[in-house]
Amino acid sequence: MGLRRLGLNVLERVLYPVTPVLVTAKHDGRVGGMLAAWWMQSSFHPPTLSVAIAPERYTYKLIERSRVFAFNLLDFKFVNKMPYLGDVSERFLPDKIENAGFNIVEGEVLGAPIVAESSAAVELKLSKIVNAGDHDIFIGEAMAVYAIDDFRNGMWGLETYRPLMYLGRTRRPGPVYRVYLTPTGWKREKIEFARGELREYAEKRVNLIEKITEIVRKSASIGEAVEKAKSILREQGLEEDDAPYLVDDVVRRLKQGQCQG
Ligand SMILES: Cc1cc2nc3c(=O)[nH]c(=O)nc-3n(C[C@H](O)[C@H](O)[C@H](O)COP(=O)(O)O)c2cc1C
Repeated sequence: MGLRRLGLNVLERVLYPVTPVLVTAKHDGRVGGMLAAWWMQSSFHPPTLSVAIAPERYTYKLIERSRVFAFNLLDFKFVNKMPYLGDVSERFLPDKIENAGFNIVEGEVLGAPIVAESSAAVELKLSKIVNAGDHDIFIGEAMAVYAIDDFRNGMWGLETYRPLMYLGRTRRPGPVYRVYLTPTGWKREKIEFARGELREYAEKRVNLIEKITEIVRKSASIGEAVEKAKSILREQGLEEDDAPYLVDDVVRRLKQGQCQG
């Protein structure tokens, strides 16, 4: 095994590079924002995005109070502006985003503050705050998404947009540097979904979900659906204790009006 066991203190770094978003919010006329690397897409239906924010961040309060926020993707050409967004707090440097040279516009749907110079932005309505330890996870429902023309036919062209990524920071003693990067000389490969010998497995998966969906539709209770799902799993030589998970997944999607993910 080529893997070396490391201390958990480097966990965060091992998981980088990540494309950080600038999370923006506004309350009582005050617009603020912060870089956040700890974010993710968290549901298709409803479409949600989540981000972990420490309570110390001024942005935390702005979002908690206004219940509206935005994600902004910034191009690598703004790399020199990152210290305004990720190193200093709005609490101490009012209007830090404008001070960094950016312009704020209002989103069309929620009026969320959006950085006009961003390559993409999403307006979010706060649905839940979940404690995760020293950070809380803000889950927001996406209400509108915007992108520059480099994004077309459902995919980034990466001709004019150069994603900005974050690799981590050096530690004291000595000056602290944050390392940002953008991949140059992008190499693209089109890889067919579940190609070749994998097709069979992908089909089995789709068929199983279809069967379970049918079972759920026809069952009078979750318990009944789980029992029926167990027998299908047994027939297919699969583990029957997967049944509650699969039924739960189907039930959630049916609730959202989705038959097949
Ligand atoms: C690249 C980068 C990623 C960051 N990711 C997060 C994050 O995911 N969550 C968080 O709470 N802070 C994160 N931070 C720290 C905040 O951006 C930073 O503390 C900021 O100054 C907070 O500003 P505010 O007090 O105006 O909200 C990150 C900083 C950088 C530079």
